[in-house]
Amino acid sequence: MDECIIKAASAFLLGLLISVFSNRNSFCDGKFEGSCREREKHALLKFKSDLIDPSGRLSSWGVDQKDCCVWVGVTCNNSTGHVHELRLQNPDAESGWLPYFGYEKSGLSGKINPSLLVLKRLSHLDLSYNNFKGLQIPDFISSLTHLRVLDLSEAGFGGLIPQQLGNLSSLVSLRLKGRDDYTSTLRVQDLQWLSNLRLLKHLDLSFVNLSNASNWVEKVNMVGSIEELYLAGCYLDSHTSLLTNNNFTSISTLDLSHNNFEPSLPRWILSITTLDSLSLSQIGISGPIPFGLRNMSNLQNLDLSSNLLDSSIPKWVGNFSSLISLDLSNNQLNGSLPESLGHLSMLEGLYISSNFLEGIVSEAHFSNLTNMIYLYASDNSLSMHVSPDWNPVFQLEQMELRSWKLGPKFPSWLRSQNKLLDLDLSCGQIADSVPYWFWDELSSHFMYLNLSHNQLHGEIPNIAPTLGAIHSVMYLNSNKFSGSLPLFPPNLRELDVSRNSISGNISRFLCDKQPHELKILHLGDNLFSGKIANCWNNWLQLEVLMLGNNNFTGSIPISIGHLQGLRSLHLRNNSFTGVIPLSLQKCKNLTMIDLSINNFIGNIPTWIGKMLTKVMVLILRSNKISSDIPHQLCELVSLQILDLSNNKLTGKIPKCINKLSAMTRVKYSNHTAISYAYYGGEIAILENAFLVTKGLEFQYDSILSLMTLIDLSNNVLSGEIPEELTSLKGLRALNLSKNHLSGVIPKSISNMGLVESLDLSTNQLSGKIPASIASLSFLNYFNVSFNELSGQIPTSTQLQSFDASSYVGNKLCGPPLQNDCIDNTIEADHQDDNDDAKESEKFYICMIIGFVVGFWGLISPLLYSYSWRRTYFRFLDANWCRVYVYVRRWFRCC
Ligand SMILES: *[C@@H]1O[C@H](CO)[C@@H](O)[C@H](O)[C@H]1NC(C)=O
Ligand SMILES: *[C@@H]1O[C@H](CO)[C@@H](O)[C@H](O)[C@H]1NC(C)=O
Ligand SMILES: *[C@@H]1O[C@H](CO)[C@@H](O)[C@H](O)[C@H]1NC(C)=O
Ligand SMILES: *[C@@H]1O[C@H](CO)[C@@H](O)[C@H](O)[C@H]1NC(C)=O
Ligand SMILES: *[C@@H]1O[C@H](CO)[C@@H](O)[C@H](O)[C@H]1NC(C)=O
Ligand SMILES: *[C@@H]1O[C@H](CO)[C@@H](O)[C@H](O)[C@H]1NC(C)=O
Ligand SMILES: *[C@@H]1O[C@H](CO)[C@@H](O)[C@H](O)[C@H]1NC(C)=O
Ligand SMILES: *[C@@H]1O[C@H](CO)[C@@H](O)[C@H](O)[C@H]1NC(C)=O
Ligand SMILES: *[C@@H]1O[C@H](CO)[C@@H](O)[C@H](O)[C@H]1NC(C)=O
Repeated sequence: MDECIIKAASAFLLGLLISVFSNRNSFCDGKFEGSCREREKHALLKFKSDLIDPSGRLSSWGVDQKDCCVWVGVTCNNSTGHVHELRLQNPDAESGWLPYFGYEKSGLSGKINPSLLVLKRLSHLDLSYNNFKGLQIPDFISSLTHLRVLDLSEAGFGGLIPQQLGNLSSLVSLRLKGRDDYTSTLRVQDLQWLSNLRLLKHLDLSFVNLSNASNWVEKVNMVGSIEELYLAGCYLDSHTSLLTNNNFTSISTLDLSHNNFEPSLPRWILSITTLDSLSLSQIGISGPIPFGLRNMSNLQNLDLSSNLLDSSIPKWVGNFSSLISLDLSNNQLNGSLPESLGHLSMLEGLYISSNFLEGIVSEAHFSNLTNMIYLYASDNSLSMHVSPDWNPVFQLEQMELRSWKLGPKFPSWLRSQNKLLDLDLSCGQIADSVPYWFWDELSSHFMYLNLSHNQLHGEIPNIAPTLGAIHSVMYLNSNKFSGSLPLFPPNLRELDVSRNSISGNISRFLCDKQPHELKILHLGDNLFSGKIANCWNNWLQLEVLMLGNNNFTGSIPISIGHLQGLRSLHLRNNSFTGVIPLSLQKCKNLTMIDLSINNFIGNIPTWIGKMLTKVMVLILRSNKISSDIPHQLCELVSLQILDLSNNKLTGKIPKCINKLSAMTRVKYSNHTAISYAYYGGEIAILENAFLVTKGLEFQYDSILSLMTLIDLSNNVLSGEIPEELTSLKGLRALNLSKNHLSGVIPKSISNMGLVESLDLSTNQLSGKIPASIASLSFLNYFNVSFNELSGQIPTSTQLQSFDASSYVGNKLCGPPLQNDCIDNTIEADHQDDNDDAKESEKFYICMIIGFVVGFWGLISPLLYSYSWRRTYFRFLDANWCRVYVYVRRWFRCC
């Protein structure tokens, strides 16, 4: 990547030097006054004055720099001095990260001043990747009749594309691509104007709404000169094309991905035989891989990913002798991999992940793949059978074979692959020790290494620092590694060795003197023991610290306060002692605190409420904490999960509890903070918590952000259930059991319309069960046993469906209990019942809306990031830079 940028930058500088130098020459020749025409210079200054330039990249455009031909982005004609190129692409576009980090930093916005028209000789205008925030493309651009290149790609323009662009008859390249996050509102009514553009070779209208341009194929067909055509995400459908005889005699690139050609590919596409690049990703086609593609013998890039294609991969795919990239991932392809694929000697990238391919893959499948660099084949049912001394003809840089059957032996042929940067062998059924050469020769190169979910055993040796590599990630979790924790390179960003049998003290690891870049450290579910050394000051970047389910002892060291970026702290199920250290109040970004099942003593710190205002999950279950519940806890407005159960808490439930506003929301919100992502925007580690609901313990992860819970059970709380508690309308689980609560169950409990699990058992509650409880239509766990309740159990579909054990140990009567009620006291409550039924209907509707909103809030970032990743990958491919990308996924395996 860096090399690519440097090349591009030096080419640009060279170009600039040449143009400066040659302008001086012309000046000496006296061909024109000054090196830049005054009129054009003023026009440029006027143009600039209407722009908002947040990063000041047009600062060289000023009065003190007289020659406008040397201004950034401006190029003049050697001999005439006229401005003939204006290249103002957002420089951040080079990085490829724009969709992720935003256009705001360096993107120009504002207006396009018509003074631009003074630049009559302009032949190249590039405003791509800027940030014009829905501004209409000015139709006066159509007067710049010398324009050969007009590039407004992803520049944030919106609305109707002016048909006057049809007057730009010199155009060779027209790029008006919208943004692929579908925020773009660019559209056209009709493409008639295209037919005037007789010289057009390159047309990009991707992510422009063409749904009204019903005759788009015919119109584009009239531009006989077209070579590259990009119409991805244009809301095209197959009804629009009746064309049989096409006119595309020189077309080489066609991108129609992200449209809807359900159920099958339009025939006219198959009649084009000149293509070398064809993208048909995500167009809703099903059935077998279209036979007609066979005639496209020049194909170098073929992308059929993310469709519904089934049947097997045909043998004739092996005849595409020029093929460089073949993407069939994310379909329903079955059968085995044809050996003919092994003939594709030009192939650099093979992408077949997420299909139903099965059978054995052997040396023959790779016999002539001498150029292969990328192999993505995860999530199939393929098995690798190669001889132990196989020496592959390829040198891979990225290989993902998640959930292949690769074992039981560790694949020895990997030893030859010493350029690997990205390796995923997770869920590979490998039951072996990892050979020394893997750790010695390969492991320090990886930017992404995933060996998780195998049965790898033996000790992990110290891993040497990686030279020059950044962003490295190692997932060694869910294996059988043993021994002690080795040293890892300081530039590691994520380390997951959870679910192994690694033991001993971690002091050597922690106190390794160099500053580490680690953001995620997951050591959970091992056999670690001993005290945690006071060395956190070497780990200042840490955001997620998971040490749960080990045998750590001692107190939390004070240096934890150095981890000021910490978001998630899991110490669950160890033998930690002492008080919750005061220094933790410096970790202001904490959203998750799980200290459950330890021997912590002392108070619930009052500063939690004041200092840790982002906390969403606070779990102190099963410790020896003895205090009141401090009213400061009510300040935690983001709190969704409060579990203080199994401690020695005394006093009353604070009335201010209704200030926990995250629990009053009936709608789900998009709590993205509950998962963690660092590279490429995909979820790396899911936040999780063990919670008791409905009388059972569950591990919540992907739906944790949807959960709202208060569990105060098994303490020594007394007094009444405050009515304020019932205003937490978003609460789904409430457990107050095993305390000394007295008084009545508040009638307003029916306000908590989303509650699914309600446990008030083993207290001293008295009076009747309020009839309004019958309106809690989501209730599916209910327990009021062992209180002093009396009277008839109200009737409702739910309340009688619970087991009698939910009610025993009271003076209650009526079903589901066996004893009938003697005097009928239910009459008076009847009116309430009706009101409550209406309420419940209302809540039900809210719930459905809430679910839809919440679900998409949660899931859509994943969908988006997938498409983003593919787009990014294409960007790299398209630039022919051999770039080190590594791709992360949310594990779905095993
Ligand atoms: C510069 O202008 C001259 C005269 O109009 C023209 O012939 C020539 O093609 C132009 N050069 C470039 C690079 O546009
Ligand atoms: C400018 O003119 C010089 C010779 O005068 C020539 O070598 C150079 O290629 C020209 N540059 C452009 C961009 O036309
Ligand atoms: C093209 O320009 C001519 C005059 O220059 C104008 O009359 C005509 O309306 C323009 N056509 C379009 C489609 O804008
Ligand atoms: C696309 O444009 C059509 C007609 O202009 C409009 O009805 C439709 O809503 C637009 N689609 C989107 C997704 O904006
Ligand atoms: C094919 O292209 C030519 C030249 O661009 C054009 O004149 C002709 O109308 C086109 N034919 C069809 C059937 O669109
Ligand atoms: C392998 O590729 C070479 C060219 O790179 C070709 O000459 C040879 O025939 C191919 N062999 C097979 C078995 O495809
Ligand atoms: C945990 O530590 C305790 C006390 O040191 C010890 O008795 C116990 O065996 C350890 N458990 C494991 C699983 O190592
Ligand atoms: C806390 O989180 C915010 C928002 O994610 C971030 O900008 C800030 O840098 C974090 N603070 C520290 C000390 O890491
Ligand atoms: C959801 O996320 C968006 C974008 O990050 C943010 O603007 C919005 O306020 C969030 N909504 C809620 C309810 O948190």
